[in-house]
Amino acid sequence: MKRRTALALATAVGVALTGGLAAAEEYKVGVLLPFSGVYAGLGAHIENGFKLGLEHFGADLGDNTITTIRADTEANPGSTLAKSKKMVLQDKADVLVGIVSSAVLGGMRDFIHNSGTPLVVANAGNNDMTGVKCSPNIIRVSFSNAQINRPMGTWLAKQGKKKVYLMAPDYAAGHQMMEAFRKTFTEAGGEIIGEAYPPLQGTKDYGPYLTAAKATNPDAIYVFFAGGAAITFVKQYHGFGIGKDIPLYGAGFLTSAAYVHVQGEAADGTVASLHYVPAIDTPENKRFQEGYQAAYEGKLGSEFAVQGYDAARLIIEAIKASGGDKAAFKAALSKVSFSGPRGPLRIDPATNNVVQNIYVFKNEFKDGKIVQTVLDTATDVQDAPNGCAM
Ligand code: PHB
Repeated sequence: MKRRTALALATAVGVALTGGLAAAEEYKVGVLLPFSGVYAGLGAHIENGFKLGLEHFGADLGDNTITTIRADTEANPGSTLAKSKKMVLQDKADVLVGIVSSAVLGGMRDFIHNSGTPLVVANAGNNDMTGVKCSPNIIRVSFSNAQINRPMGTWLAKQGKKKVYLMAPDYAAGHQMMEAFRKTFTEAGGEIIGEAYPPLQGTKDYGPYLTAAKATNPDAIYVFFAGGAAITFVKQYHGFGIGKDIPLYGAGFLTSAAYVHVQGEAADGTVASLHYVPAIDTPENKRFQEGYQAAYEGKLGSEFAVQGYDAARLIIEAIKASGGDKAAFKAALSKVSFSGPRGPLRIDPATNNVVQNIYVFKNEFKDGKIVQTVLDTATDVQDAPNGCAM
């Protein structure tokens, strides 16, 4: 069923793009996403959103066409580096898109920087890739790890929380997200009274970590977990009854629309921050959600799907702006701006990171399902160059 939908979308795009005329230029896009492992669900959402973006904006391509090739990154930096080399050197991809894990992005940075082939990052938030290790070839349409978490430190301190315990998976993204929160929270007078970093892969039981956290008696626990790890963590937090005493906050991937329905009541009361929530009331988001739900069995479009959707639009806008000139296409990628499902976004020419709103939202369990509402919006959130010199 799913495969048929994807195929139908691809066919629709082919028809819309060629329109009976000979194609001026063919753009080969190499899609690199996790289709297995802890982040497999994220990869599926990003790819679904990317296909929908091609369908919604593909007509703007004129006589140019987009073809895609794809490979599974798992959460594996070594194998992904090899696969991206194949896509660039052998398959002659014009642009790569995807990458979910910050560690995987870190592992391919030097190759992309030296290759001359642009990479549109559709998830991985690794700060350094638009900071000290930025590159004209790396354009990020998703978020940076700092961008998502910085506003929450200030926000949580304002709610009167004084002592917070941190928890996140033990890899680049986990540490970077907690550092960003720590900085703004402590600057606002808060104190971090403890922290723990369980392994990213294979942590099945968060019990010992939760027991240690509870023993420090914090006002709140602040975390980053995503995908399968987020589902397990939130369910166990609820299952152990900790939420009754200690409220749970975090980077909003914790209760993503991609899987909050699986967490159900366990996600009740959790407050988090993110660059997209399905509740955003704009025509752009309505079009996205209606299209997504129609194509994918009524499922809600998540932030991951929006990242894929906006990545497709970014590539299409850059092709449009460069009039089918492949040499000009690369430079055009970092000049794109538009209003999409998440609100206004633009690429910062100083870093190639996206500039966008960050939403603080709460999860409430009502009539048998979770409802997400926006409590606060930090507008136009932009990272400092942090050592980036293009
Ligand atoms: C990352 O590794 O950068 C990452 C992974 C999953 C997320 C967010 C960031 O949901």
